[in-house]
Amino acid sequence: MQTVNEKEFPLESEVGALATPPSGVRGAIPVEKTTHATLHQVDWNDLPFGKYVSDHMFICRYKAGEWQEPKVQPFQNLSLAPTALALHYGQSVFEGMKAFRMHDGAINIFRIEKHHERLNASLRRMCMPSIPYGLFAAALQQLVRVDEAWVPEGEDVALYLRPLVFASEAKFGVKISDEYLFLVITGPVHTLYQKPIRIKAERHYIRAAKGGTGFAKCAGNYGGAFYATQKAKEEGFDNILWLDACGHEYVEESGTMNLLFVVDGKLVTPPVSDTILNGVTRDCLLQLAAGMGIPVEERPVGISEIVDGLQGGRLTEAFGAGTAAVVAPVSTIGIDDQLYELPTYNEDNVMFRLKKALEDLRSGRTEDRFGWNNVV
Ligand code: COI
Repeated sequence: MQTVNEKEFPLESEVGALATPPSGVRGAIPVEKTTHATLHQVDWNDLPFGKYVSDHMFICRYKAGEWQEPKVQPFQNLSLAPTALALHYGQSVFEGMKAFRMHDGAINIFRIEKHHERLNASLRRMCMPSIPYGLFAAALQQLVRVDEAWVPEGEDVALYLRPLVFASEAKFGVKISDEYLFLVITGPVHTLYQKPIRIKAERHYIRAAKGGTGFAKCAGNYGGAFYATQKAKEEGFDNILWLDACGHEYVEESGTMNLLFVVDGKLVTPPVSDTILNGVTRDCLLQLAAGMGIPVEERPVGISEIVDGLQGGRLTEAFGAGTAAVVAPVSTIGIDDQLYELPTYNEDNVMFRLKKALEDLRSGRTEDRFGWNNVV
């Protein structure tokens, strides 16, 4: 259970420099503290994804070809022109990251570099200005320091970090925006799914096509997936197993997660491509698996292979991997009106061994031999 010491975390408004500036940022990012903290309203035993937002947010404007002075300020609504270009033409990208409470109480912002690389890949694809690493890292560090009391402690919980960038120029002509807002908001969360999930192989709708934006974490990929996902939910599924847009045969991802399988004892997953998000948790699990002697295969996975594997007992595990989800066991896969049940899972399963290895690394219980942790 989280406790808050208000003396250690004063609520009065103050503007001050808290952080040593990381390289690339002139001076520490200024902070304006909230006078209306909401931390005391949090039920730390119930942290559904997206319910709570922390007291502060990071904000930085882009105009005249440059990122302007960054700031950490009280979480608040924005004032936007109805003509703001993101609202019309969808130049809007985001990241999903987490900060963890380590076993010694320190705070770890996980894999800043990898998320920064992916954010800039998304920004490039959407004709938006890239964000310098120094600004990105400083924004996260300063914000997490200011709201450090919001980082929960315990199993399967974290402070979710949501960097987002969108076109703010007020002009509804069809054009690439010349102005943007880069924000970071945060909130304490439990893992996205709290029980094994049911997914439906989607044979009609598609999420992404070759040459499209599927690899980018742009808002439209999520909005475009809602319709089919909602239909699947009405049929009793939790999410979609997206198939390739050409033949509706090969596994892509699950929209909120990458998908991994254990077939004949090997960890099998489709390779990332321009239609699949380059998942950071996916990358962690593959690297950890290799180090644990678990054979890894990144190769196309046909839906027919899944059916055969399930019928022949060779496919023993299916799970999603993502920042919000961490590791989400799949209990059922719906394929062409048939429901395929996965075997009952136990802690010896590959997915749980990998999840534990990941948690041990980011909590500081095992050595961070990959350099993934960023202790604030
Ligand atoms: C994440 O895992 O961080 C995501 O962004 C996926 C989803 C919850 C939107």
